[in-house]
Order: sequence, then C-alpha cells, then structure tokens
Amino acid sequence: MQRVRKAVIPAAGLGTRFLPATKAMPKEMLPIVDTPTIHFIVEEAIKSGIDDILIITNSTKNSMENYFDVNYELEMRLKQAHKDALADEVHQIASLANVYYIRQKEPKGLGHAILCAKSFIGDEPFAVLLGDDLVVPQDKPALQQLIDAYNDKQTTILGVQKVPHSETNKYGIVSPSKEVRPQDTLFKVTDFVEKPPVEKAPSDYAVLGRYVLTPDLFEILEHTQPGVGGEIQLTDAIRQTMKNHPLYACNFTGERYDIGDKFGYMKASIDFALKRSDLGPKVRDYIKKLAKDMQ
Ligand code: G1P
Repeated sequence: MQRVRKAVIPAAGLGTRFLPATKAMPKEMLPIVDTPTIHFIVEEAIKSGIDDILIITNSTKNSMENYFDVNYELEMRLKQAHKDALADEVHQIASLANVYYIRQKEPKGLGHAILCAKSFIGDEPFAVLLGDDLVVPQDKPALQQLIDAYNDKQTTILGVQKVPHSETNKYGIVSPSKEVRPQDTLFKVTDFVEKPPVEKAPSDYAVLGRYVLTPDLFEILEHTQPGVGGEIQLTDAIRQTMKNHPLYACNFTGERYDIGDKFGYMKASIDFALKRSDLGPKVRDYIKKLAKDMQ
C-alpha cells in the first residue's frame, strides 16, 4: 500500500472576494490575528503526516515563498534587539515543511491547477487542501481523518460536512449511496456535482476543501472540458474516476471556517483571538461592552 505523503495546495486564485486587499497581496497571506492563513493549512498537512507540499501559485504570490523561506536580515535585527524568541519563531517557519512551488500560468480553474501538480505527484495517492477552508481540529486534523479513511479503502476520499440546505449551491455536493446516520463518519458516494441549484442538490453534504486523490485523476483532468463557471472543475474529473474505483466521503470532525468569505474570515479572527492568552481577555471584554451598548 502506498502512503499518502504529498499534498497540493492550490493558491493561484485572484482573490476577488477580498479586493482591494488582494490587489497587491495574495489572499493566502491575509492573517488570522498575526498568522497568514496559508500557515495554518501547511501546518494541518504536516500534522497529518505529509512530507512534501506543492503550492500552486501565480506571478503575484512571491510573498508566500518568502514567508516559508529564511529571512536572515530580519532574524539578525531581531537578535540585535534582544527579541530572540521572535527571531526563533520566524526562523522555525522556514523549516516547517518541504515546500515546493509551481506556477499556474492561466486561471483555468481548480481542476487545471491540480493538473499542474502532475509531475510532482507521479504515480501515488496525494492530498489536496484548499486554502479557503480552515479547520480547527477537535482531536485529529481533518486531513489526517481523510488519510485514515484512504488507508482503509484505498480509493478517492472527499472531506465533507453538512451545510445549510440553502448554501448547497456554493459547493461540490455528494450523493450518498444510502441514508447517512449521525455515526457514519465514512460513507460511499454514488454521484458528486459542482454547485448544483439548491432545489437539485442531492444532499446537504458539501465537500469542504479536503481530498485524498488517486493518480489516475491526472489523465482524466487532461481531457476534462470546462464546466460550471467556464472553469476546468476538479469535481467533474473526480466524478469520472468513479469509472475506475469507488468514491467515499469522510464526514470529518472539526470547526470549519470559510475564510474565503468576509464574514467567515471575521468569525475566524474573533474566535482565534478569543482563544489566545495575550488577547482573549481584552477581546472578550470588548465584545461584552459592544453587546451591552447594542441592547
Ligand atoms: C471549490 C470546489 C467545491 C468545494 C469548495 C470548498 O469551490 O470547487 O467543490 O465545495 O471549493 O470550499 P470554490 O469555493 O473554489 O468555488
């Protein structure tokens, strides 16, 4: 059995939902309190046992590469200012993981971005993490749960959670092979559609930015025609792999934030700040004051 040891993080999007900030910076570098969102995604991959990470970028994303690199001048200046702990913290980021980069030259969609990883991945199963979905683990990282499911079934695994029915048109939605009971953490899927109209959604289980995929996907992606939104959809290609092997959904645990959405981003920022010992009490007092003033 092949171990899942490589992950792909597509990060070549234009970030239009966060303009004007993303006019001059990648959306993946927007911080939750003081840490860029891409840092959390890379950390989840590492904690799930991934060795090598490929980030799919474009020409505007150099700051992401700098972030995962060593910055000698900054470290030297921090040390000179006796800020050794901070110097160590920024140094550590460069040794978090083996991070590689490749550019997607045209914005042709998520499926096309994943195709850019073909030669990096080769002939082995791999993980995909989307940067818009941040998952705070309950006990195990979301991706680790998918990898465990892959080790059990050795086939494509989609990370899903239930979403409000009215939001099913925002996601890839799976069609479970039979009724899903609350205790079913892994279930078989008979179909998978990208952003269906709400009235046509086959269930409320949405794919939320975590996948374990098999390498036969690449050949399929090479022939996948543009779908919803005129883009080459990963969902359409995964659907085709069902001709080769079954498709499973892993109903992962953890608090998921849609940080690609402004309100989701605000919620994550507040929750993360509340959990920090340096900021939590101040933020809590401030929120209490705001709530009182609003009454
Ligand atoms: C992408 C996928 C979709 C998935 C979603 C999760 O859509 O195409 O299937 O449900 O991510 O966040 P996007 O949000 O990039 O349009």
